[in-house]
Amino acid sequence: MQLSTRHLLGIKELSAKDISTILSTATQFKEVLQRPIKKVPSLRDVTIINLFFENSTRTRISFELAEKRLSADVLNFTASASSVSKGETLLDTVNNILSMKVDMVVMRHSASGAPHFLSQHIPAAIVNAGDGINEHPTQALLDAFSINEKTGKLKGTKVAIIGDIMHSRVALSNIYLLKKVGAEVVVCGPPTLIPKYIGNALNVEVSYNLRETLEWCDVANVLRIQLERQNQVLFSSLREYSLAYGINRQLLDDLKKEIIIMHPGPINRGVELDSDVADSKQSIILQQVENGVAVRMAVLYLLSGRNPARE
Ligand code: CP
Repeated sequence: MQLSTRHLLGIKELSAKDISTILSTATQFKEVLQRPIKKVPSLRDVTIINLFFENSTRTRISFELAEKRLSADVLNFTASASSVSKGETLLDTVNNILSMKVDMVVMRHSASGAPHFLSQHIPAAIVNAGDGINEHPTQALLDAFSINEKTGKLKGTKVAIIGDIMHSRVALSNIYLLKKVGAEVVVCGPPTLIPKYIGNALNVEVSYNLRETLEWCDVANVLRIQLERQNQVLFSSLREYSLAYGINRQLLDDLKKEIIIMHPGPINRGVELDSDVADSKQSIILQQVENGVAVRMAVLYLLSGRNPARE
């Protein structure tokens, strides 16, 4: 099995076949993760650094666990505790790390395009763990894996992506992926949090009506309001956002069917999701996190020189 790309910079660069290869490989790794001994020797003697220039709980731990389950040697880098604080550039930082014979780089950065820039200057394979407001490809892959696991298909599944579409790399990666595999996509949120170009540019439907969107969809992927990326007032208050676009129990009970609730985390409880929705049996939020390890194992394995198809 082989991917058409040396790096995982974004879903935009993947073909539908690449996505299918990653998801089927992840199925095999998920089976490994159910065993009493959850470790395989696939990446023994491969050294991987997790370069995190921005905070993370799920993605960072999930990548580290995936690497350890594959028997890779793992290094963790936190920008705030490094010589970046003394003014060292991104390229100098990475070239110094690679001179110590590091084979792969997993990278999160607040600047959109940072992993793409790096990929033009270094020989190691790069996996984008989230770049600014651009893409979060492994999140979209684990979301797709989780939808497929729950519904048995991606093609034709009706997925609503709800919330702060404007500032969300999860939204963009999910839209690219879902369109490539033939799912139907509606983005829903306040007009100020949905880019005006999105309908035509990405071939998705846009809705400003939460109730109608929930009545239409099979799956609601609910996003966090990204206050840290907003430098202007785009809605009046979190309270008003919650009243118009927050998902509560009553809203779900009024629907004539049971939809699947997803969220990439971290959740703002009581803003985009009430706790009795986030913790309900309709929610697959923790299954998403569980599946992230298998999906990241698949990505790392397929991009490594250890995948026989690449040697
Ligand atoms: N879903 C996600 O990217 O979460 P973290 O920011 O905690 O990694």
